[in-house]
Amino acid sequence: MVSKQYAEFPGRICILGFGSIGQGVLPLLLRHIGVSHENVTIVSADPYGADIALKYGVNFIKRKITRANYKEQMSRLIGKGDFLLNLSVDVSSIALIELCREVGALYLDTCIEPWIGGYDEPKLSMAERTNYALREKALKLQTGIPAPTAVVAHGANPGLVSHLLKEALLNLRTDLGMNGKKPTTKEEWAELAQKLGVKVVHIAERDNQRSYIPKQVGEFVNTWSIGGFYAEGNQPAELGWGSHEKYFPADGREHKNGRKSSIYLEQPGILTQVRSWTPLEGAYHGFIITHNESISIADYFTVKDGEGKVTYRPTVHYAYHPCDGAVLSLHEVAGKNGKIQAKHKLIVEEIMPGGVDELGVLLMGHGKGAYWYGSQLSIDQTRVLAPYNNATSLQVAASVLGAFVWAIENPEKGLVEADDIDHTRVLEIAKPYLGIITGEYSKWTPLEGRTPTDSPLFVEDIDESDPWQFKNFRVS
Ligand SMILES: NC(=O)c1ccc[n+]([C@@H]2O[C@H](COP(=O)([O-])OP(=O)(O)OC[C@H]3O[C@@H](n4cnc5c(N)ncnc54)[C@H](O)[C@@H]3O)[C@@H](O)[C@H]2O)c1
Repeated sequence: MVSKQYAEFPGRICILGFGSIGQGVLPLLLRHIGVSHENVTIVSADPYGADIALKYGVNFIKRKITRANYKEQMSRLIGKGDFLLNLSVDVSSIALIELCREVGALYLDTCIEPWIGGYDEPKLSMAERTNYALREKALKLQTGIPAPTAVVAHGANPGLVSHLLKEALLNLRTDLGMNGKKPTTKEEWAELAQKLGVKVVHIAERDNQRSYIPKQVGEFVNTWSIGGFYAEGNQPAELGWGSHEKYFPADGREHKNGRKSSIYLEQPGILTQVRSWTPLEGAYHGFIITHNESISIADYFTVKDGEGKVTYRPTVHYAYHPCDGAVLSLHEVAGKNGKIQAKHKLIVEEIMPGGVDELGVLLMGHGKGAYWYGSQLSIDQTRVLAPYNNATSLQVAASVLGAFVWAIENPEKGLVEADDIDHTRVLEIAKPYLGIITGEYSKWTPLEGRTPTDSPLFVEDIDESDPWQFKNFRVS
């Protein structure tokens, strides 16, 4: 087990939210950050995990943070030189970042969260309920003036996958027999992806962890926040829209303002499936759940000409096959036209041995076809590495730890996303917790077994001339 201390932190650490991710992060923070336990305070809307806080000798406050009380409550707990780690749902990231800026505290979250209602308020337009809109608002805080570092959307995905993508591009360059220096700027990274001919990037995840106890009727089972997953799954599906795409989806919509790197579909992510591939699973159907990385990576890897016209951008989106219990749960939700079950079950201790969360980036359309690079972390490895985790939460927690250390080492960077951060430092810290890190090439394409010659019974509307068109990936 790794036990290296990466940083001393003399200030206070406030962890807001202590659900599946908060509980997974705490043991790693206390193991690798030199902080006195009495300087750590957890604030959570429910009492879940108070016993864990007690065991570690950290403070636990049960309090719901709201638009009305956040300034008063949070400014008691964070001041100059402190760190706010926001691992809650339904508390506005932007409000908290502004507060941290005012008082001089560092900030980190794993998702740009709106205030409660931000995902499902019917008065908001579909465009306003996208992650694109949330990200655009957050990026307004990038003023160019030095400010305390605020790392947004830095868990496993969004977060870690941006770093895996950079490493994957360097591997691909070597394997294609090309060379060059390591890119250091956004422009250089984007040029590298363009030069390698990467047309599509999937965040390809297959979680096959399962519980000893099968999902019950009327129950939502998942390996991380059920509320969080349900909320993002009911946002419109979103994807970074690549420059090679020839067929704009009939239900696709462009944004009127901002960076315009991504589009949304007029249907929720939990009803939107695509074909994808991971090394252990092989071909599978995954959901396009909207995530910050689909938008930020597409934006980061955009190349424009002198007149501002986009000359290169990969299509980027999540292709998520959650644990089988969650797939069944989503099927039940869909059958009830979106109504969530009354019972929610987060599975951690009851997961059977052998389950793996396989999370990586799948780079497609280049000279070697498809290349997956990522983490294969089993529940068995997880149990050796850290308590209060399953494989899913540990991939997130490892990445939070990496970015937490990076923020301490770079305290005046203002608002940053994973793409803006030195990927080598974060990966160096996260890797010991990620199980097997592997890269695998595949001849798989979304057209496998679907051409009229392969499958004459059901002739589909596909483009055989370019397998990497979005319409070839899309299932529903
Ligand atoms: N980037 C990633 O890889 C990744 C992965 C998983 C989760 N996440 C994100 O991490 C966050 C936490 O996820 P989780 O699985 O731990 O969620 P969870 O539902 O298990 O826990 C949420 C926690 O937030 C607390 N909370 C909710 N409302 C609150 C309020 N108003 N005031 C104070 N506390 C409040 C709850 O009490 C709970 O402790 C979510 O934003 C989720 O989207 C990111």
